[in-house]
Amino acid sequence: MKKILVTGGTGFIGSHTVVELLNAGYDVDIIDNLCNSKASVIDKISEITGKKPTFYQQDLLNQPALDQLFQTNKYYAVMHFAGLKSVSESQVKPYEYHHNNIVSTLNIIKCMLEHKVNRLIFSSSATVYGTQDSPECFESMVTGQGITNPYGRTKYFIEEILKDVSAGHPELSITLLRYFNPIGNHPSGLIGEDPNGIPNNIMPVIIRVAQGKIAKLKVFGNDYDTPDGTGQRDFIHVVDLAKGHIAALKHMQKGVNIYNLGTGTANSVLELIYSFERISGQKIPYEIVDRRPGDLGAVWANSAKANAELGWRTQLTIEDAITDTLQYLKLHQ
Ligand code: UD1
Repeated sequence: MKKILVTGGTGFIGSHTVVELLNAGYDVDIIDNLCNSKASVIDKISEITGKKPTFYQQDLLNQPALDQLFQTNKYYAVMHFAGLKSVSESQVKPYEYHHNNIVSTLNIIKCMLEHKVNRLIFSSSATVYGTQDSPECFESMVTGQGITNPYGRTKYFIEEILKDVSAGHPELSITLLRYFNPIGNHPSGLIGEDPNGIPNNIMPVIIRVAQGKIAKLKVFGNDYDTPDGTGQRDFIHVVDLAKGHIAALKHMQKGVNIYNLGTGTANSVLELIYSFERISGQKIPYEIVDRRPGDLGAVWANSAKANAELGWRTQLTIEDAITDTLQYLKLHQ
């Protein structure tokens, strides 16, 4: 059985991908330091799949411990999700973000080269597109211009490091997956997004308003050049996103290959709020406030490359994501 090392496998996107890997018949080792997730996720993954991944509570900055894992296991591929991911936190802790995200990745590369593990899938982000003239993002666009925060730059720098590593090591197959805006959770409601502290992203904020933990949602600006003036994003159901990783794993090729994982469409912040209200039957109080510095008006994926080359496309809607979120909330009040 092919064994995959999943870093950050107890986190939001990592845990959903582990479910899809186990369902597809792969063997999974998870390494996670639990800095923004819980060990109980492992039991939930087992409950969903009937299979148990092996869990190592380790920090990727601990190179000798990581090396030990590579010495005792023969990995078919590494999926690298682990990383610090809060935009606002990255602005007050830039050193921690660059050190953690970049050194972790370098440690993984070192182990892969030394132990001849040749396949890597990296969790990148639409944030690498920075500021563009067009809201639709294509993989061929120049990246790195106008990224507004250290978190986003760590994603961009890691992409560039991986391109250099690939040029010097042509035996490697590296896939960069650029995620758009993941929402929702597994339909069982057993696993989902549970960020520590104050969330930045829209769906975790809506959830906290629905739970009465935050009184009002702040809508950051209604004067963008979009149909209703609020920001438009490509919201992708996390289960579709997770399945994109399995498709990518099955189509790995030498060199660096880059794919957008998005739906190819966009919904506005108000549309997301109204859909949540309609499906939940619950009012989400909101107020329009100033634009959030660094935000863009509209951003969505051109997903033609992933559709054509990976044979993958999204199947779920934002309504599905909201229904699944409500199931998660029912189990996690
Ligand atoms: C953000 C990050 C991006 C990161 C991604 C992870 C920025 C500029 N970009 O993307 O680097 O990869 O999260 O998922 O921060 N909104 C509100 N009220 C809120 C929260 C958000 O109106 O309380 C709006 C935003 O203005 C935006 C939309 O909702 O129009 C989506 O915001 P968010 O979920 O934070 O994602 P992005 O900004 O797209």
